[in-house]
Amino acid sequence: MSVSQSAVHLVNHLDPDYLRQALEHDVRTGLASAPKWLPPKWFYDAAGSELFSQITRLPEYYPTRRELAILRREAVDIAARSGADTLVELGSGTSEKTVLLLDALSVTGTLRTYTPVDVDAVTLGDAAQRLTVRYPDLTVRAVCADFERHLALLPRRGRRMVAFLGGTIGNLDPAAREVFLKELRATLRPGDTFLLGADLVKDTGRLVAAYDDAAGVTAAFNRNVLRVVNRELDADFEPDAFEHVAIYDLRSDWIEMRLRATRAMDVRVDGLGLTVSFADGEEMRTEISAKFRPEGLRRELTAAGFTVLHHYTDPTEDFSLVLAGV
Ligand code: AVJ
Repeated sequence: MSVSQSAVHLVNHLDPDYLRQALEHDVRTGLASAPKWLPPKWFYDAAGSELFSQITRLPEYYPTRRELAILRREAVDIAARSGADTLVELGSGTSEKTVLLLDALSVTGTLRTYTPVDVDAVTLGDAAQRLTVRYPDLTVRAVCADFERHLALLPRRGRRMVAFLGGTIGNLDPAAREVFLKELRATLRPGDTFLLGADLVKDTGRLVAAYDDAAGVTAAFNRNVLRVVNRELDADFEPDAFEHVAIYDLRSDWIEMRLRATRAMDVRVDGLGLTVSFADGEEMRTEISAKFRPEGLRRELTAAGFTVLHHYTDPTEDFSLVLAGV
């Protein structure tokens, strides 16, 4: 007979209206700006999360495969260098990546606690459920929180490795990255580590193709944000009246996704009591996905008070994982 030691705890730091108010604020601000913009965090309702999962399997979209390849090869080295007993994961990575790190921490013999951090309580519950089956001795302390706002509320016990994978850091502009990294640094103590996944600068053609795939999945993912706003804020965007645009900005080193109005139109957002006009050809920014150079990553981490312990990359140097200490 096996006795399971696993336990699941969930703390919710988001009051019930938090996401709704954040969406209202973002849409009100973004649609009143010139040029207009919407933040990428609103892509991920159930349909958007499914489209993103399809993106990760597209031939053009290399980041997920590259990061997984690095983790498959290096997870045990990462685990050993970190010495962590607690894995904190910011944002919903696919469980595949989490499992590689948890397996490695089991191999090195230190694993005790997994703390997934996500704004979506359902995602958290599912992850907790799956993982306690696979790791009977694991304590899961799930935290429902917005990692851009609630880092100070993360549980502090144990020797922690905070993982922020997938290249999601690239969604933050340089000023927001600086704030995020400093705030994260302030929550860590000696012995804790930070594992950061970041996409690297490469040939522009490959970068653009990764965000403008031949099958049109990224275009559907991009337009999905309009469906989210329609549903949540009672708007009447016509997704088909917007074209998907992906450009690489060589000066800022980031991919920019936009939605381009294919004709002049007025859009009502009844939930906000707004009508918004689009000119023919007007472009609205929906995402930046910054690309990094290893020395730039090091500079940003060092400026925030981290020490780079090890830099991992794949043979083609498409993607990097940086393990940093404090
Ligand atoms: C999940 C933020 C890492 O920026 O590559 C994929 C999202 N956008 N295709 C990225 C995304 C378009 C993705 N991240």
